[in-house]
Amino acid sequence: MLILSLLFGNSDLMLNIMIPLLEVKNLAIQFVTLDGIVQAVNGISYQVYPGETLGIVGESGSGKSMSVLSILRLIPSPPGKITQGEIWFQGKNLLQLNAQQLQKIRGRDIAMIFQDPMTSLNPVLTIGKQLTEALQLHLKFTSEQAQNRAIQLLQQVGIPSPERRLKNYPHEFSGGMRQRVMIAMALGCQPQLLIADEPTTALDVTVQAQVVELVKQLRNQQGMSVIWITHDLALLAGLADRILVMYAGQIVEQATVHQLYKTPRHPYTIGLLKSLPRLDQIRQESLSTIEGTPPNLIDYPPGCPFAPRCQFAIEHCFQENPPLEQIEPNHKVACWVLPRAT
Ligand SMILES: Nc1ncnc2c1ncn2[C@@H]1O[C@H](COP(=O)(O)OP(=O)(O)OP(=O)(O)O)[C@@H](O)[C@H]1O
Ligand code: SF4
Ligand SMILES: [Mg+2]
Repeated sequence: MLILSLLFGNSDLMLNIMIPLLEVKNLAIQFVTLDGIVQAVNGISYQVYPGETLGIVGESGSGKSMSVLSILRLIPSPPGKITQGEIWFQGKNLLQLNAQQLQKIRGRDIAMIFQDPMTSLNPVLTIGKQLTEALQLHLKFTSEQAQNRAIQLLQQVGIPSPERRLKNYPHEFSGGMRQRVMIAMALGCQPQLLIADEPTTALDVTVQAQVVELVKQLRNQQGMSVIWITHDLALLAGLADRILVMYAGQIVEQATVHQLYKTPRHPYTIGLLKSLPRLDQIRQESLSTIEGTPPNLIDYPPGCPFAPRCQFAIEHCFQENPPLEQIEPNHKVACWVLPRAT
């Protein structure tokens, strides 16, 4: 990404000529529950380009996790189901691969890290065993090669005395250290795409900053693409190239980091940004919050899902859901009114 920026000096031109590493087209996911059908993800489309970091932000239940878990077909099914869409990765529609074909991609080409490392680490196996197994399986390393690489990986993610630590079990590491081990496991096979689903939410602020820094550094070294999911729009400022804002299972705004922070155009994004503390507005007395709650995804409203909470809503907003449309290069918004932040 950086090299192309330097070559072309223009990120709009750059994205237009690049072939996406991942392309999600019109993806929809439903959950069948006793209360009815939950429309968790509602026809979203987006791309991830080589070497870029795409941030996905939105409040709890907006469909962030489901939209990325579907990439590796990790949606709990039943009750979940992908009801429409395509997910293209290196010329293959991942939704059409069989289990064996998908297994080859999981962990090798696409790796994931989650909020709770214990969901991915096996508590009864040493860290060394878990790290080396993946390397032997995906890269056909001998046990000695895998051992050496595992030591190197732990070193790379800043775990002291890696040789000794390989013999430890997950519970013998602190939360921040376990997250580092997870990152080491995810990066072991040098994936082309790293998906990080709120990996720092459970960590304290200092450790959170260290983990973000570590992923940035490794991303720059390995040139991989990253999808980073978070509730925290501020965290993405120094990490992402582009951001998707999700609301009620839809993408409501998609822009470069610069565009999103400078000229947000969806009322929900404007609200999210107003609720962030800013160093240049010291005198601001209280931060604003977005009043109200997201819609019930079982009884999906006919119009814009944000309408009941939106101060800019007009009558038409309650009747028809606005499509996500391009308003300038690299900037798409789903809104009939397109207000400007004041
Ligand atoms: N097992 C399930 N059964 C029923 N509905 C589910 C299930 N898992 C998810 N959903 C529905 O899918 C929607 C999207 O869930 P998802 O986990 O993607 O949200 P999220 O944006 O990642 O939220 P969070 O920030 O809390 O992690 C939820 O609002 C919920 O209604
Ligand atoms: S379409 Fe209407 S209700 Fe929805 S965000 Fe835009 S102004 Fe608000
Ligand atoms: Mg989630």
